[in-house]
Amino acid sequence: MLVRVADPAILPSHVARCSVAVDLHDEAADLDATFAGIELPARLRDAARKRHIEYLAGRWCVREALRAQLPERAGITVGHDDSRAPVWPDGLVGSITHTQNFVSSAVAPIEAARSLGIDSEVRFSVERARRLGGHFARPRELADLARAGLDEGDVATLVFSLKESVFKCLHPFVRGYFGFQVAHVVEVSAREGRARVRLVEGLTREFAAGCELEGRFELGGDHLHTALVIDG
Ligand SMILES: CC(C)(COP(=O)(O)OP(=O)(O)OC[C@H]1O[C@@H](n2cnc3c(N)ncnc32)[C@H](O)[C@@H]1OP(=O)(O)O)[C@@H](O)C(=O)NCCC(=O)NCCS
Repeated sequence: MLVRVADPAILPSHVARCSVAVDLHDEAADLDATFAGIELPARLRDAARKRHIEYLAGRWCVREALRAQLPERAGITVGHDDSRAPVWPDGLVGSITHTQNFVSSAVAPIEAARSLGIDSEVRFSVERARRLGGHFARPRELADLARAGLDEGDVATLVFSLKESVFKCLHPFVRGYFGFQVAHVVEVSAREGRARVRLVEGLTREFAAGCELEGRFELGGDHLHTALVIDG
């Protein structure tokens, strides 16, 4: 039910990463055997099987990423707090994403990165982009990116995904919810897979209004992947 796939090449080499293709609807798979040693928190016991699989697969990816790059930390447990944010053990930072059939984790020692955010999305159709774009972007924001060399669906997917990566990456500093209006994607280089995000509302003293962050992205088959790193 779980097959290793290529990691999106959008993170520095000091960040350990593991990505898998997963059948979230596999009714036959033995989850205890597949995810042996990974605990499901009590609060998720009554959740749907799909939710069990995505939660466990994210932690499985953390363990495999650490085995490859930081084997002395491979036995760690990553829980989650009341806001659903993953709780990383001392000395590590990381991020988890899951979307239809794809689950991935990124983890790094705190000396290498102060925070990480990764996100993957199934690429939006143009119809979906037009229907949902207003929920996460200003019309002007999407229009300004129209010359970036991506189609309309991919521009919307990119803006949405980058903002989710921003949220995951900055949440440990902000320690509270902040919505999509806080950041604007102001520039995209499709050739380099880079995008600039500007905070238009201040979140903390360090992440003040006007602060700019550089995100990376990659289009891979049906998916668009984004990542953001705050350097150590
Ligand atoms: C938190 C949020 C980004 C997660 O989105 P999602 O659609 O579930 O995305 P993914 O499947 O890619 O990621 C899920 C993982 O994100 C991680 N996550 C959840 N909340 C998080 C938080 N507050 N901080 C960091 N990571 C978080 C978890 O590891 C979760 O997986 P798990 O529950 O299995 O451990 C989304 O639910 C949300 O609240 N978005 C609105 C806020 C936002 O994006 N603002 C934009 C600011 S510019």
